Amino acid sequence: MKEEPSEFYNYERQLETLGMGLRDRVTRLIAVKGVRRIGKSSLVRVGFKLHNVKVHAVFDARSVPVVTSESVFEVLSRGLTMLLERAGGLRGLIASLLSRVEGVSVGGVRVEVTPGRPRVLVEVVEALGRVAAEAGEPVVLFFDEAQDFAAVPGFARMLAHIYDYVDGVKIVLAGSEVGLLDRLLGRRDPKAPLYGRPILEIVMERLPPERARGFLERGFSELGLEWPGSYIEEAVESLDGIPGWLTAYGYYSYITRSHPEALRRVVREASLLARDELESFLSARRQARHRYLTILRCLSSRPMSWSELKRCVEAGLGRRLNNSQYTRYLHELQDYSFIEKTGEGLYRLADPLLRHAVAGLH
Ligand SMILES: Nc1ncnc2c1ncn2[C@@H]1O[C@H](COP(=O)(O)OP(=O)(O)O)[C@@H](O)[C@H]1O
Ligand SMILES: [Mg+2]
Repeated sequence: MKEEPSEFYNYERQLETLGMGLRDRVTRLIAVKGVRRIGKSSLVRVGFKLHNVKVHAVFDARSVPVVTSESVFEVLSRGLTMLLERAGGLRGLIASLLSRVEGVSVGGVRVEVTPGRPRVLVEVVEALGRVAAEAGEPVVLFFDEAQDFAAVPGFARMLAHIYDYVDGVKIVLAGSEVGLLDRLLGRRDPKAPLYGRPILEIVMERLPPERARGFLERGFSELGLEWPGSYIEEAVESLDGIPGWLTAYGYYSYITRSHPEALRRVVREASLLARDELESFLSARRQARHRYLTILRCLSSRPMSWSELKRCVEAGLGRRLNNSQYTRYLHELQDYSFIEKTGEGLYRLADPLLRHAVAGLH
C-alpha cells in the first residue's frame, strides 16, 4: 500500500476530489469504489497525507479474517491505536476523551476496545466528535473494504448517526464489492439507514493502455532497469490497467530479471486471489454453483450482451433458464464485482485474470 504522495501515480482527479471532500464543511461521507488492487486504500492514505488530515483512523476489514460482531472490536482497537500514534500534539486530548468511554482503555498509545458493549462504537465516535470540536480539526474515519462491516449489526445505522449528528467527524468508505457497498449506502432501499443522504462518490477506473505503459516505464526507470518495450506491451495487455498488478509485475521483473517469469508470477498470484474470492462466493451458493460458473466461463471468451450471454449459458447448461432467475444471477455477480457492464451495455469479467481462476474450477 502506498502512503507517500510522491509514489502515487495518476488518479490526479480522484485525489483532488478526495481533497475537496476532506476539506470542505459540507461533505459528510465519501465513498471510493473500484475493483480490488486498483489503488483505493492507497488513494485514501495518500489523500490523508497530501491534504494534511492529522486525525484519522483506518478501520481495515481485511486486518481480520472475517468481520463479525466479535472481531470488529479488534479492528476498532487497531484503528484507534494508529489514530493515537499519529495524533502528535493532540494525543493527550484524544487519550483522555477516549478513556472516558466505558469499555475503552488507553495505555500509552495502545487503545483497547473490549467486546460486549455494542454502544461503545457510537460513544467512541461521539468522543471523537468532541476531539474535533475542541481541537478545531476534522476527524476522519476510514472504513476500508467497508461492505464487510455490513455483517456487524447496526453498522449502517451508526454511519447514519455520525452523518446526521456528529459534526466534525467525516466518514470515508472504500469497497471492492461495489454492489454490496451500494447496498450499505442504501442506494436503492428507502428503508436503509443512509438512504437519501448526499454522498461524494469517487470511482477508480483502470488506467487506459497509454497510462499503464507510462506507469510501468516510470517504475522501471526508477528501478534502473532497462526493459524492452515489447515486454511492457505484453504486460499492459495482460494486466488490464490495474495498478496493483502492474506494480507486482514491476517488482517481480526486478527480482527475477525475467519477463515471462514475472508475468507468470503476477498472473498466478492474481488468479489465486480471484479463485479464493470466487470460491467463497460459490460456497454460499452451492445450488447455483454450476450456473454461476457457466456464466463466468461464457464471459471468459469475450464480453457479451444480455441475450447473447443467456444463449451461451443455456447452451453450456443444456437447458433453458427463466429470465428472472438469470437476471438475479447477473445482479449477484455484479454486486460482488465479478462481472460488470461496459459503457456499451455488454457484460464482461471485472478482472481479466478471473478467467484463469474460472478455468480451474468445476
Ligand atoms: N496510483 C498508484 N501509484 C502507484 N502505486 C499504486 C497506485 N495504486 C496502487 N498502487 C500499488 O498497488 C497496490 C494495490 O493498491 P491498493 O491501494 O492496496 O488497492 P485496493 O485498495 O484498491 O485493493 C499497492 O501495493 C500499491 O503499491
Ligand atoms: Mg484496499
